[in-house]
Amino acid sequence: MRKLQLVYEGKSKRVYSLDEDSLVMEFKDDVTALNGNVKAIAMGKGVLSARLSAFFFKLLEDHGIKTHFLNYDGCRIVVVKRLNIIPVEVIVRNYAYGSLFKRIPLYRPLQRLDPPLIEFHYKDDDLHDPLVLEEDLIRTRLLTHEELDFIKNVSLKVNDILTKFFESRNLKFIDMKLEFGRTKKGEILVADEISGDTFRVVDDQGNHLDKEIFRRSRDVALLLKAYIRLAQVVGVGIDDIYTPCRDYYNE
Ligand SMILES: Nc1ncnc2c1ncn2[C@@H]1O[C@H](COP(=O)(O)OP(=O)(O)OP(=O)(O)O)[C@@H](O)[C@H]1O
Ligand SMILES: [Mg+2]
Repeated sequence: MRKLQLVYEGKSKRVYSLDEDSLVMEFKDDVTALNGNVKAIAMGKGVLSARLSAFFFKLLEDHGIKTHFLNYDGCRIVVVKRLNIIPVEVIVRNYAYGSLFKRIPLYRPLQRLDPPLIEFHYKDDDLHDPLVLEEDLIRTRLLTHEELDFIKNVSLKVNDILTKFFESRNLKFIDMKLEFGRTKKGEILVADEISGDTFRVVDDQGNHLDKEIFRRSRDVALLLKAYIRLAQVVGVGIDDIYTPCRDYYNE
């Protein structure tokens, strides 16, 4: 990737400039927890997350959801439309879990949330991505009324698609995080990634197929096992996840 200009290195991905309208996302094997305070390397995770993300973006596109997805190289690279990211994380919850209990300890663990609960968090690492009100988003002009409605609507649709997808595989879709961005023309697309790093899925025994494993155990081997199981359930390949990726951009 030496020929492409690195524009951002985050906790789980490197983002390079491909051309005026598109970016190359390279999924790293790094895994973090507690806002980046716990760090480890899980060999194979980058390929698995890129592959799952590409799979889910295609699934959403097949259902008429507009996303930033353009192309997947088969390894750890996902090519996407270059967007102005809206600094808001949208969390959709189907069952009570995780940080919800820190906010209000009145829910029962895994209590069904129907209709799903939507939360907005302002993306700011120093502030630990605080919960914000819909009114905050409007008053600060992060979003217009129409954009907020649109984003809520799309988030619920995405949640519905993924919930059905996992239910048909006897898995419970607990919650997920989405990011959105704007094209130059102001169109809003689903951005970033959709993988075991950004949603929670459990089987009927309560075993996680997502990053929760690492948050609890800090064990990369257990995390990789869960991600391989997730990939198998989804139906994407796992045989080549330790094979070095070809660097097409330098050939
Ligand atoms: N289509 C897109 N266009 C521009 N930027 C994007 C797009 N999709 C995702 N991003 C941004 O690219 C970065 C991906 O890197 P990564 O997910 O590793 O970041 P991170 O460590 O989670 O940090 P943060 O999300 O707080 O910036 C994120 O900042 C994400 O918001
Ligand atoms: Mg991220």
